[in-house]
Amino acid sequence: MRKHFFKLIFLVSVFVFGYAVCYVSKTGQSYDTIIVGLGSAGTTAASTLAKAGKTVLALEAQDRIGGRVWTVPFGDGIVELGAEWIHGTEHSRVYETAVKNNISVFPQDTSFKVYNSDGTEGSKELIEELLTYLLEASDHPPEKLEQLGKFLTKKLMEYLKEKHPEVLIDQDFLSEFLDLTNFIVNSYQASNDWNDVTAQSDYEQLEGNQNMSWHRYGFKTFLELLLNTYNNGTGWPTLEIKLNKEVTLINWPKNSTGKVGVVCKDGSVYTADNVIVTVSLGVLKERYSTLFSPPIPDNKATVIDKLSIGVVGKTIFSFQQAWWPDVNGFIFFWSPKDKEECKDDPWVVQIKDVARPMGSSNTLYVWSNGDTAKLIETLPEDVVKSKMMETLKKFMGKNVTVPEPTAMIRSNWYTNPFTRGSYTYDNLLKHEYPNARAILGEPLLDATGSPKVLFAGEATDLVHFSTVHGASESGFREASRLLPINKV
Ligand SMILES: Cc1cc2nc3c(=O)[nH]c(=O)nc-3n(C[C@H](O)[C@H](O)[C@H](O)COP(=O)(O)OP(=O)(O)OC[C@H]3O[C@@H](n4cnc5c(N)ncnc54)[C@H](O)[C@@H]3O)c2cc1C
Ligand SMILES: *[C@@H]1O[C@H](CO)[C@@H](O)[C@H](O)[C@H]1NC(C)=O
Ligand SMILES: *[C@@H]1O[C@H](CO)[C@@H](O)[C@H](O)[C@H]1NC(C)=O
Ligand SMILES: *[C@@H]1O[C@H](CO)[C@@H](O)[C@H](O)[C@H]1NC(C)=O
Ligand SMILES: *[C@@H]1O[C@H](CO)[C@@H](O)[C@H](O)[C@H]1NC(C)=O
Ligand SMILES: *[C@@H]1O[C@H](CO)[C@@H](O)[C@H](O)[C@H]1NC(C)=O
Repeated sequence: MRKHFFKLIFLVSVFVFGYAVCYVSKTGQSYDTIIVGLGSAGTTAASTLAKAGKTVLALEAQDRIGGRVWTVPFGDGIVELGAEWIHGTEHSRVYETAVKNNISVFPQDTSFKVYNSDGTEGSKELIEELLTYLLEASDHPPEKLEQLGKFLTKKLMEYLKEKHPEVLIDQDFLSEFLDLTNFIVNSYQASNDWNDVTAQSDYEQLEGNQNMSWHRYGFKTFLELLLNTYNNGTGWPTLEIKLNKEVTLINWPKNSTGKVGVVCKDGSVYTADNVIVTVSLGVLKERYSTLFSPPIPDNKATVIDKLSIGVVGKTIFSFQQAWWPDVNGFIFFWSPKDKEECKDDPWVVQIKDVARPMGSSNTLYVWSNGDTAKLIETLPEDVVKSKMMETLKKFMGKNVTVPEPTAMIRSNWYTNPFTRGSYTYDNLLKHEYPNARAILGEPLLDATGSPKVLFAGEATDLVHFSTVHGASESGFREASRLLPINKV
């Protein structure tokens, strides 16, 4: 009731008094900038502005800071339900933040074993050789539009014909190897199928190691360092943070000038000179038609519809102690017969990648992606647990007794109304909408051309989308737009 009443009053006052009068919050205070969302982009933008002396209010819908960075105490240490690695070190805001604060992050080695569904150890050499080749091939995409899956399949066939003709007639191996590669591509891209991804993605890797880990510090340390709250730091004096504050409406002056009004689900209203929106593409897809008044321009609405965000998920188990061999990854290679036996639960065949994290010694991750990841978020916990443990035993239990786990947690990036996905990828519409990410990131201006609603977040970074460093760069980009040096 209260909420509706307040909204009504607010709308009436907009109507009667116009923008300038109504955007005075209950306390009468107005901020330089309001940040919507405190993930990597919002945290970077908020701390950049606050360090420059601006008064900043950060409104975060969830009860924690971090967004798609979510470090959780688990097992004998911590695990990451969201971002895990610093992908590349050269010119990385994330890596540089660690180094500047004397925190040693180190690479996770990529050693792995392959297990077959009959419990024998698989031929790692061939799989490693082929995956390495395909990873390299994807760096040299064709000139004209092509689906990533089709392109990589073609490259694989050419390679096998030349190097391993005997494999070409091994249909069982080939078909599962293609499924496995599809799965691995989807784990990188957050896609549901490698043919939903363009072979000509704009993504650019930073130089340096792609698997740098925050290990027992956890990725959350990055956000604490930015906010100056690490080790009981006191934060920034001009930055006010409010959690559990879901923003439902942003009123901005389009044909006029003046302040921006931000309305929250609990009825509170805040005002500022400008607002930086950092919510995910998934949240924008669901809400853009109600979140902004007046509505965002058509070209921005179109790219929100056309860009893609997918799902990558983790189900994490802890055990009394580690019982697995001393490598970091375990690839599960399914035989056609064992696949057939799972036909009532086809998602089980998508259990293909189990990994050991660096933040704890007695936990294992089971990775999932696409529709399987969405399904795993919604299945009953005991079903997920029993099917996954059964599968771990099938593949890894030949020589060791796989014990029962002591606990289990799983991510819910798709179900979560404040993320609605894990990260974005370049889909097949990229050729039709080559500037989609740039348009997504364009600010909304008032009648005098001054930016009123700005957009940051992973999806708005032209070449480092899908990462924490990209999200952070985007937050810095939009904060800089509001600082004097840029107002030349
Ligand atoms: C499983 C997984 C693994 C990943 N692995 C890696 C990795 O290894 N390395 C890497 O670099 N990246 C990785 N990523 C990607 C990385 O986590 C994201 O790109 C990055 O964290 C996105 O930051 P952001 O600030 O753009 O968005 P978010 O982190 O989503 O921040 C947006 C914030 O807005 C809040 N919000 C949403 N709606 C509202 C509202 N209405 N009102 C107020 N607040 C709202 C959200 O709660 C959230 O806190 C991974 C992501 C996932 C999910
Ligand atoms: C990092 O270590 C160096 C050398 O020990 C020291 O001079 C510097 O003050 C430290 N920086 C931080 C942020 O702790
Ligand atoms: C390294 O990172 C990639 C991409 O995030 C991931 O698919 C792979 O499993 C990682 N390797 C290890 C050993 O963790
Ligand atoms: C099990 O042990 C045998 C004998 O040591 C070994 O040859 C085999 O590779 C092991 N299998 C697995 C899956 O580790
Ligand atoms: C932070 O403060 C808490 C509570 O005062 C204290 O227990 C803890 O030791 C402090 N941590 C550090 C790193 O100073
Ligand atoms: C805003 O300005 C444009 C261009 O000057 C005009 O076409 C439009 O009708 C105006 N809209 C409102 C709501 O005043």
